[in-house]
Amino acid sequence: MDITTIEEKSYSGKKVFLRVDFNVPIEKGVVQDATRILASLPTIRYLLQQKAAVVIASHLGRPDGQVVPELSLKPVADYLARELGQPVNFAPDCVGPEAKKMAEALSPGQVLVLENLRFHKEEEKGNEQFARELASLANCYVNDAFGTCHRAHASIVGVARLLPGPAAGYLIQKETQALSRLLEKPEKPFLLILGGAKVADKIPMIKNLLDRIDMFITGGVMAYTFIKAKNWETGACKVEESAIPLAKEIIREVNKRHLEFHTPLDHIIADRIAADAHYFPTERGTIPPGWIGVDIGPQAIEEYTDCINRARTIFWNGPMGIFEIEPFAKGTVELARALANSKAFSVVGGGDSASAINRAGVADRISHVCTGGGASLEFLEKGTLPGLEVLKK
Ligand code: 3PG
Repeated sequence: MDITTIEEKSYSGKKVFLRVDFNVPIEKGVVQDATRILASLPTIRYLLQQKAAVVIASHLGRPDGQVVPELSLKPVADYLARELGQPVNFAPDCVGPEAKKMAEALSPGQVLVLENLRFHKEEEKGNEQFARELASLANCYVNDAFGTCHRAHASIVGVARLLPGPAAGYLIQKETQALSRLLEKPEKPFLLILGGAKVADKIPMIKNLLDRIDMFITGGVMAYTFIKAKNWETGACKVEESAIPLAKEIIREVNKRHLEFHTPLDHIIADRIAADAHYFPTERGTIPPGWIGVDIGPQAIEEYTDCINRARTIFWNGPMGIFEIEPFAKGTVELARALANSKAFSVVGGGDSASAINRAGVADRISHVCTGGGASLEFLEKGTLPGLEVLKK
């Protein structure tokens, strides 16, 4: 992607509006997973080394324009101060006189974190006046919020249009390079692994990848919709009924192209979703009446591992089962390990898949783990995102 990058600009003595995605899980004021904060540190450090004053803006959760104290970015600002080893100022609102005063007082090498952008409904609406207020806090714009680039929100698109020389930070550069490699001449065979739920949301992305992939394997809740589309028994599994026609269409397209397509050869089924449920493997790929599929079975693990071993490019989105519950985590964890051992260029996208990779302890052996689920899927569908379009040269 031909986007302007921070290395092409000079930031000495500038005041930078830096949009990041610090949408991280917080419990009782403590950051639970700092992956996204750590992922933007190289950009923040670079700007500080360049003697810029950095005004950091992010959203957290979906407060829908209301002030929700649990969704304050204050714990994130404190976490950032510890990581940077320097004080980080915190503005109790992202716009208004207090934010303005604090941004004006900021000297080169100093950092200010603004309160949650989504405490104002104007952010998600892409409101022009709100974008102007945000833009008035700085004199140039950098975006490193890859996970939010699929949203045409005020801080992603509006501010980028208002401030001169908008540029991409290191995280956006890393993410777009990895994902572009999947779209532009991927090394063959290319394996697509899809799990998790929400088949309908993923169909446009699957369609865009059909001409590039050689193998397609499914697991998790998604697999049951494909199994139902084949007119097989799905027991008490959650099936996305409205997506069945789309799943049928995908199966037709896959067959037309003679691609390898797999639903699980067997499953782990349980009488309910709980760690102390009764569970056992099925003998075949169907689910008996009254039972719920909770993981892929041992034969499926073997077959899917073989696909991973043969692939040279892999994209994985969505877990193979309910991996948060220990007895149902095996399929996801085994595939994560196979991915780590593979020689393929491997990309994992989506919050749940990233947690699964962390849980298997193999994150450092995957070529790239995306920080944005929705953003990575939309990039693979369209080859661009609204937040990237405004950074184009
Ligand atoms: C994400 O977590 O995917 C991003 O931060 C975007 O959040 P959103 O889906 O609430 O816009």
